[in-house]
Amino acid sequence: MIVPHGAVLALRNASLMALAWPLALGAGPLCAAADASSAAAASAQAHAELWPQRESKLALDPEVERKIDDLIAAMSVEQKVGQIIQADIASVTPDDVYRYHLGSVLNGGNSAPGNRYNAPARDWLAAADAFYSASMKPNAKLPRIPVIWGSDAVHGHNNIVGATLFPHNIGLGAARNPDLVRRIGEATAIEMRVTGLDWTFAPTLAVVRDDRWGRTYEGFGESPEIAASYAAPLIEGLQGKVGDKDWLRGPHIIATAKHFLGDGGTYGGKDQGDAQMPEATLRDLFSPPYLPALDAGVQSVMVSFSSWNGVKMHGNRSLLTDVVKDRWNFDGFLVGDWNGHGQVAGCTTTDCPASAVAGLDIYMAPDSWKDLYRTTLAHAKQGALPMARLDDAVRRILRVKLRAGVFEAGKPSQRPYGGRFELLGSAEHRALAREAVRESLVLLKNAGSLLPLNPGANILVAGDGADNLTKQTGGWTLSWQGTGTKRSDFPNAQSIWEGIAAEVKAAGGMATLSAEGKFTTKPDVAIVVFGEDPYAEFQGDRPDIGYDDARSLELLRKLKAAGIPTVSVFLSGRAMWVNPFLNASDAFVATWLPGSEGGGVSDMLFGKADFRGKLPYSWPKASDQTAVNIGDPGYDPLFPYGFGLTLADEGELAPLPEARASVAVADPGVLFAAGKPGAGHRLLIGPPGSLSTNPGPDLIEARAADRIAQEDSVRLRWTGAGQAVAAIVREAPEDLSRQSNGELALEIELKVDTPPTAGVSLLMGCGAQCAGGFPLGPMLTAAAKTGQWTRIAVPLSCFAEAGVDMTRVDTPLSLATAGRLEIVMSSARIVSPSRPVVQCK
Ligand code: BGC
Ligand code: BGC
Repeated sequence: MIVPHGAVLALRNASLMALAWPLALGAGPLCAAADASSAAAASAQAHAELWPQRESKLALDPEVERKIDDLIAAMSVEQKVGQIIQADIASVTPDDVYRYHLGSVLNGGNSAPGNRYNAPARDWLAAADAFYSASMKPNAKLPRIPVIWGSDAVHGHNNIVGATLFPHNIGLGAARNPDLVRRIGEATAIEMRVTGLDWTFAPTLAVVRDDRWGRTYEGFGESPEIAASYAAPLIEGLQGKVGDKDWLRGPHIIATAKHFLGDGGTYGGKDQGDAQMPEATLRDLFSPPYLPALDAGVQSVMVSFSSWNGVKMHGNRSLLTDVVKDRWNFDGFLVGDWNGHGQVAGCTTTDCPASAVAGLDIYMAPDSWKDLYRTTLAHAKQGALPMARLDDAVRRILRVKLRAGVFEAGKPSQRPYGGRFELLGSAEHRALAREAVRESLVLLKNAGSLLPLNPGANILVAGDGADNLTKQTGGWTLSWQGTGTKRSDFPNAQSIWEGIAAEVKAAGGMATLSAEGKFTTKPDVAIVVFGEDPYAEFQGDRPDIGYDDARSLELLRKLKAAGIPTVSVFLSGRAMWVNPFLNASDAFVATWLPGSEGGGVSDMLFGKADFRGKLPYSWPKASDQTAVNIGDPGYDPLFPYGFGLTLADEGELAPLPEARASVAVADPGVLFAAGKPGAGHRLLIGPPGSLSTNPGPDLIEARAADRIAQEDSVRLRWTGAGQAVAAIVREAPEDLSRQSNGELALEIELKVDTPPTAGVSLLMGCGAQCAGGFPLGPMLTAAAKTGQWTRIAVPLSCFAEAGVDMTRVDTPLSLATAGRLEIVMSSARIVSPSRPVVQCK
């Protein structure tokens, strides 16, 4: 859809509407989470048998322990509490780090120096210096404790412009090559050191059992064996080898095994869900990668957002303390996930001694750190957080810092590799990434031995993924969702098209790029690159795993009908049902999310190496076969776990059934679509205070309308006879506070048929007397002039700033005016906006 320029409106002076909130909705009680004690129900004896004692391979260094004793003896309680709290750089200044003695900072996926997603690498280094220097500034007689900075370098140092971007873990899983991931760890650590960071929140050791989950691509596979074989080499690549002089120093950094435990076992495709299973199953499926990670000396373990049998991991003392610390002898620290403590029963993001008591050592409190600091300090003074527990957490943090030599390392820019920007995306690192791409592609079909292609031929390169680094690099790339980036944000990268073009040029062939598949002379072959758009975490959760993409399918069919052999290059973060696409392709390559090196893809298409990637996830036979895993009873995938053709294999594939199973779509982000309110929502209209589905036509009317399909929209008409409201109301209030930290927005598609004759307010409501929003009149007037469909996207953060309590949104959208107005609305969603975005600041 073309969005007219008038759609971009600067909402300055965002103000809280003085309008009394018209809806009186009974907010039902939120379901109380199960009591944490149920997890500890297994008797001590049974527990000991389940989780045998593990000998630590890592000896405590008496000298380090003595230093820790001295430090702890000299520290104030304020300083101790500061050490266990981690703030996000978007919400904390170096001066805060100094004043509150914060032990660590992080940059979340959307946080970057100066709030610029594509801030240059030198700004990152400067910020690292500033935080470090603040933490070391003299402060009365208190000992100086250097701050450390953690970042999600999950496929290379992916927040940094110019960094090498390796394939996401799903692709590395296909490579089945532990030595490869060791070298990737080494390269990633060096690139992090260039920008002055100390610590990565990687590797993800999730064993992913349901591919609807938006984090499937962050896992190495569906069976624990791949992650178990990768954990040690990858961690040693990142941290160095225990006992070596440069362990955690020099070219190395601190690694994190995450997310403990059972993050990939929340069937249902729900992020932050509940892994419901017996403890022995939890152990057997999800814990195997953690043991080699601990053996390799991983210094931090991140606690999972998810629950096990109804108990949030952030409050599970039995697993955090009894298992990880006591039985497994882990002597590093447990870090929480993004405000994850706030989800524990009885906790809020700003008050949660229960997590520390359960065993958490560092609260990841991105935006909540200041109030959390205050309450935690009070609990430490009053005993709800026992001093012994606080001291133990601090001891662990200091131990890691001492091991990593941060006390005497000096400013990040002065450490080895600090500021050596030429190492970001260096030729050597990119060659390694290209090698990883070559190893990760899985060949699923090769009818008539179409591959390898002859680079001397006339080749058409089509599909919206062909020349698209945003798509090729996926989520966790420069932004959290990986969206909103442009070609110039990837100076050290090659798109798949660019890789093919270089290869073909060198061989004297002819390559033509046309996303839509247009050509003048009939090509010998067409390569069509398509697949999922980027996503991260819950934004990637899906109701099923059917891949729907009418445009690419039509393109493949059209090319095939013209007698042109087709190669599909499929970009995705999971195994998906693609039967129609397989039928329409002569060759089909599962390419996952390959990262910055498109040349690695062309290497494989032209036979520079043979395919050796093997499926890390079973490939589904039906769109509703969402949790098909090797070892399941009745296991019946289309391509089994471990499948992958080589060029020598017989690559024919008999035509596959194309009927797609339909599924109940219940996307909570859909407020209105296809002519009706989203699941769990209602459209109500009427005078403020008495909304209903059909109040009579005096003040306001809602009628079905057509945009593309019959009755796919709603026409809302305000008569001007008095104040009236149209609202999308939720059956139960929803906590949108996480969503409002990022780039997610309320996106409305509408057309204005009668411009407003009085002020219009766009509001979000959060219970009685709780609402906030913006004047929308000028924008609607502008849209009326164009007469076109308009997309309005208001960042959720704007509503938060306008006073909405985002933890209990019961009315995600409401339009109010006393004047006349007529609009047709075709959709309203909470999404990563396609653009443009209204600026509230
Ligand atoms: C992510 C962060 C991200 C934030 C945005 C979190 O869940 O992990 O990295 O920046 O959400 O809201
Ligand atoms: C994610 C973690 C990540 C953290 C910091 C969370 O939302 O679950 O994997 O490390 O944010 O960005």
